[in-house]
Amino acid sequence: MRFFIVLLLTVALAASAVLGESTPQRPLSSKLKDDTIVIDRNVFNTADTPFRPHNGTKPFTNWVGLTLDYSYIQPVFNLIMSTESIANGTLRTRGEAHITVITPPEFDRVLRPAGVTINELDDLATAGPQRNRLQKAKFGMECLGRVQVVTKPKNVFQQALQIILKEYEDLVEYRWDVFNLFVQKGGNPALFDPENFSPHITLGYRHRDIFEGDGVFKRKNACIRNIVVE
Ligand SMILES: *[C@@H]1O[C@H](CO)[C@@H](O)[C@H](O)[C@H]1NC(C)=O
Ligand SMILES: *[C@@H]1O[C@H](CO)[C@@H](O)[C@H](O)[C@H]1NC(C)=O
Repeated sequence: MRFFIVLLLTVALAASAVLGESTPQRPLSSKLKDDTIVIDRNVFNTADTPFRPHNGTKPFTNWVGLTLDYSYIQPVFNLIMSTESIANGTLRTRGEAHITVITPPEFDRVLRPAGVTINELDDLATAGPQRNRLQKAKFGMECLGRVQVVTKPKNVFQQALQIILKEYEDLVEYRWDVFNLFVQKGGNPALFDPENFSPHITLGYRHRDIFEGDGVFKRKNACIRNIVVE
C-alpha cells in the first residue's frame, strides 16, 4: 500500500513537471533584430492593470494616465541601457511605466481654474458606459524616441528616451470628453486642444525628464530606432 502511494506521488510529480515544461513562461526580454527593437505584445494587455489615480494638493501632482505593466517595459529599458549606440548605461528610470493622457500643466493651468476636478477626470477614465475606458484604450508603437537639449542657466545636457506612440484615437476621444466637460464649465476652448498631444512611454532620462517647456517634441521627429511588437 505504502509502495503504491509513493508510486502515485512520483507519477504525479513527474506529470506536473512535464506539464510545467509544456507551458513555459515566455521569457520577458527585449532584443535588437536588425537594429529594430522587439517588444512582447502582451504589453498591450493594459486592461489587466488597474487604473491608477494621481491626485494631490501640490502643483504637478494631478494628472491622468494609462498605467502599463512595467515587466514588459523594463526589458526595453535594460536593452537600451546595454546598447552602446543608444543609452550606454547613462539613464535613470522611475521603475514604472505609463502614458500621460492629461498632463500636470494642463490640469493645473487650464482645467482646474475652470472648476474641473481630478475626480471628474478619473471618473471619465473609469466609470460610466465605457467602464475602464482608459486602461482599455488601444494604441500602437511608432518607434524608440530620443530627445535631448542643453538647458539654461547651467548648460546641462539633458536627454530622455521614450517609446513614441501611434494610432491612439481612444486617448484622443477621452481628451475630447475632457474638453467638453471643460467647456460646459465655462472654460475657454482656446486653452485646451484635445489633439495637441504627444503620447509616449518614458523609458529613462539623464538628470530629469524633459518636456515641451524645455523645447523638445516627443513625436515622429524624435525617432531613432524602429520598434516591432511580437
Ligand atoms: C486623492 O483621491 C482619493 C480618492 O478620491 C482621496 O481619498 C484622497 O484623499 C485624495 N488625496 C489628495 C491628496 O487629494
Ligand atoms: C560607453 O560607455 C563606456 C563606459 O563608460 C565608455 O568607455 C564608452 O566610450 C561609451 N561609448 C559611447 C559610444 O559613448
